[in-house]
Amino acid sequence: MTTETPRVVVITGASRGIGRLLAKKLGAQGAAVVINYKVNADLAEESLADVVAAGGSGITVQADIELPEDIDRLFDSVRDEYGRLDAFVANAAASAFKPVSQLKVHHLDRSYATNTRSFVLGAIRAAELMDRGGRILAVTSYGSQRAFATYAALGSAKAANESYVKYMANEFGPRGITVNAVNGGLIDTDSLDYFYNRVPGMAPMESVLSKIPLQRPGTADDMADAADFLLSDRAGYITGQVLTVDGGLTVVAPPYWSDTTGDLRAAVLGES
Ligand SMILES: NC(=O)c1ccc[n+]([C@@H]2O[C@H](COP(=O)([O-])OP(=O)(O)OC[C@H]3O[C@@H](n4cnc5c(N)ncnc54)[C@H](OP(=O)(O)O)[C@@H]3O)[C@@H](O)[C@H]2O)c1
Repeated sequence: MTTETPRVVVITGASRGIGRLLAKKLGAQGAAVVINYKVNADLAEESLADVVAAGGSGITVQADIELPEDIDRLFDSVRDEYGRLDAFVANAAASAFKPVSQLKVHHLDRSYATNTRSFVLGAIRAAELMDRGGRILAVTSYGSQRAFATYAALGSAKAANESYVKYMANEFGPRGITVNAVNGGLIDTDSLDYFYNRVPGMAPMESVLSKIPLQRPGTADDMADAADFLLSDRAGYITGQVLTVDGGLTVVAPPYWSDTTGDLRAAVLGES
């Protein structure tokens, strides 16, 4: 009997949402998944239990990706546990949702550190561990391509990541490593609920759903399916690309002020 070595995959932010569903999907294919999280240890353990129940294996690693030393510790754990790596999914994200005119230095610094610096530092460490080629995947969002009210700090960081994807595809390609992004529209997770229900000035999410050609938010499963494809052997000749999963939202006009309450527009533009 031959024992095949499992595919080793690191997913940042895999305790909840899209990362968690992707972990389970890869677990069902027999992968060993490194489940990173920031604070929710219980949810990370539940995520690992999902992976194991699906037929995979893995470990959980607490690391705050805003901190370079934590990113190093995350990849040190991968090296110590598995000695090598097949795929890195830069999925975790966090930012401040504010009009540009209200962004402070700490919002800019923390958003860049959490969303972009972490992707670059993580990809460098990941590529070093990929001894048989591999996959690097950034999870980005609609705000990188179109303007959405209060989304500038995160959208611009995601745009930077999509640019890095192209540079990394060139540098890592000769080593058999593909680098791509999966770009989501409105995806039904905790963070979408936060954006439309708790960010001041945003109108209820329902007001934008009718503007999406497919008339519904995406699911974490929609995103995980696209990510799974880009991580698979079927996507071996695709690199440097951004696959958009948004029900058509970015091919229609972006909502901008029309998905706010109007108070935000008045405050930013000084209208009475
Ligand atoms: N939801 C959407 O509408 C949407 C749309 C397009 C793209 N996306 C992108 O999809 C990705 C996943 O989003 P989601 O909605 O699935 O997220 P989510 O449900 O809000 O979960 C966020 C995950 O990231 C982790 N995390 C947050 N900050 C972290 C940090 N500093 N260090 C390490 N882990 C951290 C969380 O860990 P804890 O549980 O420990 O807090 C959690 O596992 C993000 O890149 C997001 O921008 C989302």
